[in-house]
Amino acid sequence: MNILEESSRRLMQRLAEFAEYSDEPDGRLTRLYLSPAYLGACERFCQWARIIGLTPYMDAVGNIRARYEGRRVGAPALMIGSHIDTVRNAGRYDGNLGALAALSVVEMLIQRRERLEIAIEIVAFGDEEGVRFPTAMTGSRALAGMLSPNWLDAKDDDDVSLRDALMASGCSPELAQQARARDVFAFVELHIEQGPRLEAEGLAIGTVTAINGASRLEVRVLGSAGHAGSVPMELRRDALCAAAEMVLAVEREGIKAGDVVGTVGRINALPGAINVIPGVVTFSVDVRSTSDQTRQQSVSKLEANFRNIAGRRGAVAEVTQTHNANAYECDNRIVSGLDAAVAACGQKVFHLSSGAGHDAMIMGQICPAGMLFVRCAGGISHNPLESITLADCEIGLATLFEFVRTVRPDFEAA
Ligand code: HGY
Ligand code: MN
Ligand code: MN
Repeated sequence: MNILEESSRRLMQRLAEFAEYSDEPDGRLTRLYLSPAYLGACERFCQWARIIGLTPYMDAVGNIRARYEGRRVGAPALMIGSHIDTVRNAGRYDGNLGALAALSVVEMLIQRRERLEIAIEIVAFGDEEGVRFPTAMTGSRALAGMLSPNWLDAKDDDDVSLRDALMASGCSPELAQQARARDVFAFVELHIEQGPRLEAEGLAIGTVTAINGASRLEVRVLGSAGHAGSVPMELRRDALCAAAEMVLAVEREGIKAGDVVGTVGRINALPGAINVIPGVVTFSVDVRSTSDQTRQQSVSKLEANFRNIAGRRGAVAEVTQTHNANAYECDNRIVSGLDAAVAACGQKVFHLSSGAGHDAMIMGQICPAGMLFVRCAGGISHNPLESITLADCEIGLATLFEFVRTVRPDFEAA
């Protein structure tokens, strides 16, 4: 078995082991930013990194970082990696594949006693998903110097602030500036496609050309709690019925606006008793589009619609934007370099855009960035049925390895 085959098998085994680091007791995978499972996974990642001779560390915002020097110490670095936090009841490949593949790439260089003209920085990002706190992509935002002013005040459902969660994890959020990426000339992320295109084309791998922009809203509908048995229907200010109209308005906007997708992923009705008319409802809104203008128009239309629905029902709608990431066109020099690596690995070059958001769209604000997608079965993701084959994992790893060994800081061919 050659180094690549061996590394691919080890990568799949590590992904299986990594999936054990979950906050759920029942075998489902949920690994929220800075949770015990997240910190356990960070430590396991660091153990794997130390075994091959790296000196990994947790930065000020909870990312795991490590550097493999080039032939000359202090050479410009290519950064590779992805996120290791997950959604609830997640699949094991979203994010984790790219973070662990970055480690495997360096491991193969070390096994081959190979030093490159460039340095390699590997990163396992935290909080890409933004499930625990009303934030998203905190890890990559810290590297890009794009943290929002009050990012540390964000609170989770248990009223724990991000500041306290970071400090409880041994991080020093006041030093977040030190987490900034330095001397990184490019960022590349290997990730599962999370969609059906590659499978439909019969391809294992694709080069990402663009990443859709995303807006996230938190909506609070204030009505009036009351007795389910004694308040006449015409006198009710039922927050859940108002929210129900708003949820359907999100779906309608996604269908009507064409190049927009809209989702309400979470809703909570209070006080949550069978015989009480809901007085307060909170729900999330996720709006995506390839066009930033279209997305922002849809968000504005939805906010106005929410207020009209609430007004008509004697309720009030409070809307807070919690995330806004503009669409990102992957850097042509990275796309070409990835295409060359795909071809060099004997695969057909195929371009596709990403409906999902990724840390690459944040890293792309400070350096040329791009992505490789690996086929996933049925395009299923954010679902425990998410899966890839060993053969496709090997193609993804081989292609990332080929790119790492051939890219130059000036992107000129060797
Ligand atoms: O929401 C997304 O697009 C990504 O999975 N964080
Ligand atoms: Mn995801
Ligand atoms: Mn992801």
